[in-house]
Amino acid sequence: MPILTIESTCDETAAAVISETGTVLGDCVATQEALHEKFRGVVPEVAARAHLERILPVIDSAMSQADLTHQDITAIAVADRPGLAGSLLVGLVAAKTLAVAWEKPLVAVNHLHAHLYACQLASDRNIYPCVGLVVSGGHTSLYHCRDPIDLAYLGGTIDDAVGEAFDKVGAMLQLGFPGGPAVSKLAESGDRKAFDFPRSLKRADNFDFSFSGLKTAVRYAIVGPGHQDFSKIEITAQTKADLCASFETAAVDVLVHKSARAVKKLQCERLIVGGGVAANGYLRKQLKHRAMQDGFELNIAPMNLCTDNAVMGAIALEKIKRNEFASLELDITPGLQRGF
Ligand code: KG4
Ligand code: ZN
Repeated sequence: MPILTIESTCDETAAAVISETGTVLGDCVATQEALHEKFRGVVPEVAARAHLERILPVIDSAMSQADLTHQDITAIAVADRPGLAGSLLVGLVAAKTLAVAWEKPLVAVNHLHAHLYACQLASDRNIYPCVGLVVSGGHTSLYHCRDPIDLAYLGGTIDDAVGEAFDKVGAMLQLGFPGGPAVSKLAESGDRKAFDFPRSLKRADNFDFSFSGLKTAVRYAIVGPGHQDFSKIEITAQTKADLCASFETAAVDVLVHKSARAVKKLQCERLIVGGGVAANGYLRKQLKHRAMQDGFELNIAPMNLCTDNAVMGAIALEKIKRNEFASLELDITPGLQRGF
């Protein structure tokens, strides 16, 4: 019997209905981009309030697409970690309320493991064990994925996530929010060697990343140090494109290099990649190139499952198979510490 999955970790309110064999029966995502655009970043309080308004209509929409009633649902899965506290709470309270009202068991989903599971959903073969790279607005992490729900953290960013760096570069260049897709689009017409931006921690003997120095280097290239009003900077369209291309090249270079090293060190045959930044065309291309060169297999999440969605909550089916249900005591885990 199908499950209902709920996702509200950041600024996307999403629900999906998924059959026990993984077929998507209903899928609804309400994005909040327009609400956060003027702040050029996600405002946690605004996000939580918007989730509250949208969560029930989104669940209704997924259920009616599936043409099912609550009697047809076997379990309710919800992303309980990591994410913004207020956002997580809305999804969790909705899931618990439905679990009580419909008398269904609850399943806790780790949002980052779910991002990686999107790769499994697009494959007809078992993709585990493997190395997993999560690249999103809030996280940049490498894992040894023994199976879909048994993941060991290898390393991750010590400061900003790569998606955050894309968004801030987009903001500095007045490209709107989220900046990632716009930066990536402009980069296509830029000179990737125009600026020699830093590749922080590329040669470090660990699996950590750092993107704040790269972000600052882009800032200095635009305005120099000190307080500056980015809206007053005059910069040609070609220089903007060159900045985007050089920034994207530096960020992708480190991601590809360290992921490939993890695959080699752990003697894995496959790398899987998920999260919003996995939609980046240049990253996808460079990863494919490196996989061919080094001889490992590569599974990148399909484009429609890179950014936040509830379909990837199908990972809950793996937990149900192992009888791993959560109690009604389940609480949110924002997971602000590293190593999550
Ligand atoms: O996974 P996601 O939807 O949310 C989090 O869990 O954080 O990722 C959102 C991030 C944003 O930073 C956005 O700018 C970035 O993914 N992103 C991209 C692209 N599409 C989305 N970054 C670079 N290139 C893209 N094409
Ligand atoms: Zn995400």
